[in-house]
Amino acid sequence: MKDYKRILITAALPYANGPVHIGHMAGVYIPADIYARYQRAQKRDVKFVCGSDEHGVPITIRAMKEGVSPQQIVDKYHAIIKNSFEQMGISFDIYSRTSNKVHHETASDFFKTLYDKGLFEEKETEQFYDEKAKVFLADRYIMGTCPVCSNPRAYGDQCENCGSTLSPEMLISPHSTLSDAVPVKKKTKHWYFPLQNYEAWLKEWILEEHKEWKPNVYGQCKSWLDNGLQPRAMTRDSNWGIKVPLPDAEGKVLYVWFDAPIGYISATKELTPDWSKYWCREDTKLIHFIGKDNIVFHCIIFPSMLKAHGNFVLPDNVPANEFLNIEGDKVSTSRNWAVWVNEYLQDFKGCEDVLRYVLCSNAPETKDNDFTWKDFQEKNNSELVAVFGNFVNRAFVLMHKLCGGKVPPLHSNLTDETDKALMENMQQAALHVQRSIEEYKFRDALFEVIDLARKGNKYLQEKEPWKKSSGDVPDNQKLIDNCLHLCLQLTANLAILINPFLPKTAGKMLHMMKVVDKMLDWENAGKIKLLSVGYSLRPPELLFRKMEDTEISLQVEKLRSGLVSAENRKQHAERVEPLALSMKPPIQYDDFGKLDLRIGTILSAQKVEKADKLLRLEIDLGLEKRTIVSGIAQHFKPEEIINKQVVVVANLAPRKMRGIESNGMILMAEDQEGKLHFVKPESAINAGAPVT
Ligand code: 2FM
Ligand code: ZN
Repeated sequence: MKDYKRILITAALPYANGPVHIGHMAGVYIPADIYARYQRAQKRDVKFVCGSDEHGVPITIRAMKEGVSPQQIVDKYHAIIKNSFEQMGISFDIYSRTSNKVHHETASDFFKTLYDKGLFEEKETEQFYDEKAKVFLADRYIMGTCPVCSNPRAYGDQCENCGSTLSPEMLISPHSTLSDAVPVKKKTKHWYFPLQNYEAWLKEWILEEHKEWKPNVYGQCKSWLDNGLQPRAMTRDSNWGIKVPLPDAEGKVLYVWFDAPIGYISATKELTPDWSKYWCREDTKLIHFIGKDNIVFHCIIFPSMLKAHGNFVLPDNVPANEFLNIEGDKVSTSRNWAVWVNEYLQDFKGCEDVLRYVLCSNAPETKDNDFTWKDFQEKNNSELVAVFGNFVNRAFVLMHKLCGGKVPPLHSNLTDETDKALMENMQQAALHVQRSIEEYKFRDALFEVIDLARKGNKYLQEKEPWKKSSGDVPDNQKLIDNCLHLCLQLTANLAILINPFLPKTAGKMLHMMKVVDKMLDWENAGKIKLLSVGYSLRPPELLFRKMEDTEISLQVEKLRSGLVSAENRKQHAERVEPLALSMKPPIQYDDFGKLDLRIGTILSAQKVEKADKLLRLEIDLGLEKRTIVSGIAQHFKPEEIINKQVVVVANLAPRKMRGIESNGMILMAEDQEGKLHFVKPESAINAGAPVT
């Protein structure tokens, strides 16, 4: 283990093209903040940096769609995102943005340094271009019919219906999503970074020297490295972004994944004149908090850039998380299937820590996880209210009632095994929480804190100090004192331990105990003499409130109606756009003549394992039987379609889907609601009949 002198924590720069949702918070910002707060409590030299990622295609597209400038888009969302982070208590030392001058300069200089070292390879290639919108099209912005399942809305990189990986060339009737234009190939020049030259070094650095990285991170890196790295274009054709700092680069900007991670360096520069201490000294521990979709950029591409540059430290760890689903379904911003943080903050004022709690205790640390509103309510009511809040409240109420509102003394001669066990629990919990946080196991750490509060409740239940107040047994008051003395010391410990997770709650507890922030220093964790005997404390305040069924069902309704309205919007948009948009360009009769269309009869249908949308059909084509895999499982039950007749494209080249060879395609018609219907003869005819 290295002897680090300072810790530089980065959290992925969110795209400023929409607000942040709870998936972002659970995967990146809450774990990063817990880590930063813990390290500060340890009195280590910490810098925690982030900012908005304001370049890249999604921003220009959004601007185009909304009819405003990219700058207006990023200004709007930068403010919303920044505000959400502030309210959620994400304690960045700086939240910057990549449209800042210092960032443009830093990223430009970085590029220039690599260029001057002769590291880039200049290459001319052909790329798809939209002649109407006058932009080069990323694969995602080309749409067409999937050659595998005939989904008419497959993207140029992937079909979301059947899951096939595609390239724009594979789409049938491709068109630009920005206009109705058919993409054309156009020559363009770009600067490529030779990632393959760093492969050997990366293998050594990650696969040998960082075996301790989380299995999901290590595994993804290994698979990239095993598959071999390719040169990657570090520039794009666009007028939005950081201009390529070369004389012959008109209309070219830096690739957003080149500039964004450099944003961590620029943000640190903006934060402190001492920035190079954090970036250029080997004894800095650099940690990148990210989601799993960012692993390759932070573990392979950015480190190779840093290595090539030569002046900067490399990450010590990249504790990436998996994804958080919502109510059993993947987050989808286009379908509005998300819980937006800015909306949560409006709907649940004063409950920021509740969301932090639920998202941390349910964080997708090792696998994708699910957020449900029911679980949110359950965790709030039965853990925060019934365990943590309840213990603190009881300790304070009893201390006011039985000890005159002051910290009672501890009579050591009267302490018993139960008291000693509680003291031992406090010390053990502090060590356990510390170890778990240092290993990026935040869920375990939080569980330990709640478990300690649970032990506090159990202790009170066993001791029953309220029963001792009657009667005149001489030691009774001393026993009450001991019990409440320990409960109050435990409360102080709970404040220290919960502070990285629920900082507002820890703040309220400090107020109740009338102590200053300093008490929260980690060196105090596990100590059993934090509150002085005789010190008078305030009355308790409610730490958490119960969540009612009505407010929870309102959220579920909101989520579902948001989905409906998003889908309506989407369908509406598709319907009101001129039909010409979805009309394909004319073809010659000969093109049509190449198709062998036949009537087929479905003999059997069954679901394809682990593919929600696919059915495996056996189809009678007269002289032969065919297996066809079709993306219609969400529209028909297998048993309903037996004996139905369909039109089959019989001469489509075979294709494997989920390991099954599909020999043909069936034709479907889609109605206004997006429901699919078979195209079939008016009345039953012989299987194999040609459709002409
Ligand atoms: O995936 C994203 O949201 C990116 N904007 C993350 C960028 S992280 C870093 F490189 F800046
Ligand atoms: Zn498909």
